[in-house]
Formats: sequence, C-alpha cells, structure tokens
Amino acid sequence: MGRKPIYNKVYNQLRYQILSGELPIGSLLPPERKLAEQMGVSRNTIVRAYSELEAEGFISSRRGSGRFVEPLPPVSTFSRFNWNDTYHSSMLNAYPSHMADLLSVGISQPQMVNFAHGHGGKHTLAESGFAEYVRSTAAQLNSYYLTAVEGDPALREQLVSWMGMEQISSPEQVLITSGSQEALYMLTTLLARPGDAIITEMPTYFGSLQLFQSLGMKILPVPVDQQGMRIDVLEGLLARYRARFLYTVPTFHNPTGYTLSLERRRRLLALSEKYQLPIIEDDAYRHLHLEHEPPPSLKSLDLSGNVIYVNTFSKLLFPGLRIGWIAGSRQVIQLLSKIKELSISTNSLGQRAVAAFMSDQALAPHLRHTRRLYREQAETMGHYLEKLKRLGFSYEKPAGGFYYWIALPEEIDARQLMLVCRRHGVSFTCGDMFLLREAEQRFIRLCYTHEPQEQIERGMSILADVLQARKEFSL
Ligand SMILES: Cc1ncc(COP(=O)(O)O)c(C=O)c1O
Repeated sequence: MGRKPIYNKVYNQLRYQILSGELPIGSLLPPERKLAEQMGVSRNTIVRAYSELEAEGFISSRRGSGRFVEPLPPVSTFSRFNWNDTYHSSMLNAYPSHMADLLSVGISQPQMVNFAHGHGGKHTLAESGFAEYVRSTAAQLNSYYLTAVEGDPALREQLVSWMGMEQISSPEQVLITSGSQEALYMLTTLLARPGDAIITEMPTYFGSLQLFQSLGMKILPVPVDQQGMRIDVLEGLLARYRARFLYTVPTFHNPTGYTLSLERRRRLLALSEKYQLPIIEDDAYRHLHLEHEPPPSLKSLDLSGNVIYVNTFSKLLFPGLRIGWIAGSRQVIQLLSKIKELSISTNSLGQRAVAAFMSDQALAPHLRHTRRLYREQAETMGHYLEKLKRLGFSYEKPAGGFYYWIALPEEIDARQLMLVCRRHGVSFTCGDMFLLREAEQRFIRLCYTHEPQEQIERGMSILADVLQARKEFSL
C-alpha cells in the first residue's frame, strides 16, 4: 500500500471537523503557522490542505481576517436516489436469472413433479438421521455464536480426513463457505477481473455460467465428449489466449454426467503446469457414483499446487444447508479468508451439526444407502426414456451424478416442451441454461435423484403423454 501524503491527513481531519460541526459555520480557523506547530507538520502542508478545502467550498479566506468555515452548498434538488440509472446501467441485468427462476418454480408449485432442480432425494434426507444432529446441536446453541472466519475447526478437521488427499493434510488448507456457489464467487473475485478470459467446459453448470457472466468474465468454452473435456481443443485455446483460470466439473459433470478419463486428467494437469493455469476443480458429485468409483480427483494428482478443490454438502445432504468448502495451499486459503471475512463466516449451527454427523461416521453409510436408491431411480427414469428413443431422443446412461442429459429431435423445441410440461405438472430444465447463447440448444436435463420412485413414474408418464399429443400442442 502506498503512503498517503501527510497533507491528506490534515485535509481529512479538517474536513471531518467541518462536516461533523466540530468546527461550526463561521468559525475562524487557526493561522497556518500555528496549526502547523499544533499538528507537528510543515507550514506548506497546512497551506496545501487549506487551499484544497477552499477550492471545494468548505472554507474561504477574507483578506486581513483569516480563514472561516463556510456554510455547505445546498443539497441537490433531486430528492430521491436515482435507482433507474443504477438499474439500467448494472451488468447484473444483462443475463437471465436462471437460478432464481428455477427456485421459484419449486416454491410456487410444490406439488409439481420436480426433475428441474439439481437436488438430492427428499426421502434420502429423511432417512439420513441428520435432523437429529441439527436438533442436538441446536440444544447447545448458547455456546456457539459465530465460528471462525475460515469455518468450524472440528468440521475442517473432519474434511481433511474425509478427502484423504496427500495434498490436503491440515485444516489450515480448508475454508468453509456458504455452499460451493460462494466458493466459486470468492475464487473468481480472487483470480480474475472484469474483462478477463476464463475457460470452462461447454455445456457447464448454469450457476457457474451465470456467475462468470455477471462478474464480467469472457468465457472461452471447451466442448466435452464421453471422456470429459476435449483436451485437444483446450491445448489449441491455451496456445492462443491467456486465461486467468479454468473451471471444471471433471467427475459426473453437470449437466452431461461425463467423467474426465484418467489419461485426460494427466494431460490437463500437464497443460496447467505448462501454462501456469490455475484450475478450479468442482467435485460436487464425486461420492454419487451409480456403479464404479470415479478416477482420482485432479487435486489428488496435482503436483504443482495449481488445482484449487471445491466441494459441497448440497449434494450429499441438502442444498438449503449452504455448506461447501475450498481446499488448497495455506497461502490460497489465507487469501480467500480475507474475502470470506467480508461476509463474516458461514452459519455455525449447520457446520457443527455436519461435524458431529461426520465424527459419528454417519456420512458414509448414508451415502451407501443413497446411492442404492439413486441407482433404482436412475433405472426407472431410464426405462421411460428408452421408450422415447423411437421419437428421436438420445442420451447416455449416466454413471453417476444427478442427471440425464437428453438431445431432442430437431422438430421439438426444448423450451416449448418445458412450458407445456410445467402446465401438466412436471418440470425439468432446458439445455440453453448450460450453454452460451450462440451454442446449440436442443437439450433438456432431467434430475433423477430428487423425486422418489412413484413420483418419477408419474412425472415420466406425463412427459410421455405430452409428447404423444404433441401435434395438439403444436410443439
Ligand atoms: C457442479 C455444481 N457446482 C456447484 C453447485 C452449487 O452448489 P451449492 O449448493 O453448494 O452452492 C451445483 C449445484 O447444482 C453444481 O451442480
């Protein structure tokens, strides 16, 4: 930080005294030499501060009588703050509010079969026993108040052993956030400025897209195939553009469900080293495989320290908990805690409840049970989708995560289909939310984890009926 000129200090002090009324209107200011002595500064410093205050109309000099405090200029006649200008000039309005729209559907129509939200099963949460941990934590509430800025120490410790990575061996390498969305917000703020280029898979998690766009990032998209991000395309991009960071969901990617192969993980890390490119690895779905365990995380293969790891309890327990975390080097965590401090800390009740849940070894059995249910649910949804293949629907069976990502035949408009289905009581999300505007948009995403079996059957029957009658709806 540069040193502020001394006259600034004098100027600020006098200005404050005038504005606060400590030096009333009309009062005589001390002569330059006397004030210089009182404040222990040079006379020149006082002259400069006085002339600045004079130029701004705070004081005036009258020949032979000295300097006086002037009445402040009248306030502008415009009595209200001009919100219109703020509204129209804000970058926040340039992009659609996908997150808010999606959440409002669930709130305003709770009876709707919900394939739209990326949420875990309401039934699995009830069976997890987590509510009991919230209750017993709440009973001890008096002693908690706020946790540390970096998060609850017990939870940070639990997370180090849960992640089981050589690279993350201390709680000091972990920062608790209000969901991974806040983690992405903080990391973007730390690593980039408006106008900077960043790289992400395309399609990508819509919350990240909305966030990056709203913060003024220029997005360099990399397509994905069944092996995950196309590293050959990435290599070409890196040779031509300088990007601030790369954001990726390499494991059971949202929305496609694809997983980056081990071979591509190694190539990605090698490129990150070659181009000194930080990687934000969003690992939200790692523990939600339907068959085999996924390849190791990028962070656990990272020898350079370029990877910053992000995860969340939103998919393991429930999203309203708003607890996520970042893991990285001590230095990065220290910097991020400066940003986290600006919003104080993450809610302490939830953190303590999760820490207790983990220390009782309750998370792993909950996930085993959950995966079994999700496997059955994915099969049920797949059974209905199989029948839609004859209409030209195409998709890959997911190996984990929460979603079916479905390409529609050309004659069906995804958004129109979504609106008609909503009217009939079933919701899902449109592919355009996960893509930059100019990209292809004939996809829909169906979440198979949130609704229990019978609701999946009901929702898929509605979808099939709507498609059967699609000429009547002029789709
Ligand atoms: C890949 C990915 N990252 C982050 C999030 C946001 O999670 P959180 O609720 O922890 O903010 C989601 C939610 O759908 C997601 O799919």
